[in-house]
Amino acid sequence: MRRFLIAGNWKMNLSRTTCVSLAQAIAAGCPQGGRTEVAVFPPAVYLEAVLAAGTGLVVGAQTVSEYADGAYTGEISCAMLRDLGAASVILGHSERRNVLGETNAQVNRKTLAALAAGLQPIVCVGELLEQRQAGQTDQVVLEQCTGSLAELTAEQMLQTVIAYEPVWAIGTGQVATPAQAEAVHATIRQWLEGRFSPEVAGQVRILYGGSVKPDNASELLAQPNIDGALVGGASLKADSFLGIVAAAEALVQA
Ligand code: PGA
Repeated sequence: MRRFLIAGNWKMNLSRTTCVSLAQAIAAGCPQGGRTEVAVFPPAVYLEAVLAAGTGLVVGAQTVSEYADGAYTGEISCAMLRDLGAASVILGHSERRNVLGETNAQVNRKTLAALAAGLQPIVCVGELLEQRQAGQTDQVVLEQCTGSLAELTAEQMLQTVIAYEPVWAIGTGQVATPAQAEAVHATIRQWLEGRFSPEVAGQVRILYGGSVKPDNASELLAQPNIDGALVGGASLKADSFLGIVAAAEALVQA
């Protein structure tokens, strides 16, 4: 059975002190012996402080360079993240694709670099509102999967998490209905089956992201193909993030 993953994407928020206290509060509030994997993604400059707090949470970065080392001013490599002790990295978030112009080819190179370095990639895909309205959701999402996950072996795919985040639902309070999300998740899983195998498709976790809150998490996570959540706004407060973790745990215990 796939284990739920609840991931908090803190984006460009918080400070050194508030990152550490938030991570500590989340770790303290996670159910003892829980089955849900909980991960936080602080700004890169605060990774070391959060890791040093030794909370036991999975800690990752919000992006990484596709290059190994060299003259890439301002960039941070996979080896540097590993050196800090980071375990995971979010790749191809819609804000990086749509605001900063990241392409599928770039997301693919970053994914392969992360896997080679032993970081778990969380590869984000998702359609714009106009693409959904034009009936292009499946096509857009599968193009992103095909491009961003090109060249991965089955073994590498098993180390990778996919996050479906409809762009119109991110930070807007307009969450996809459980049926809308489940339909796209099922399409992605079917794609995984064709591209890899039924075994791989059965094991890869597909997270939903976009205005996930404690009061809508349970219905979303109850869908058969939704294996967790990538949470932005609601991950910045321990109470609301823990409410989502609790919703996942309740489904595991049920
Ligand atoms: P949101 O962001 O939960 O604030 O909608 C989700 C994300 O961007 O990963």
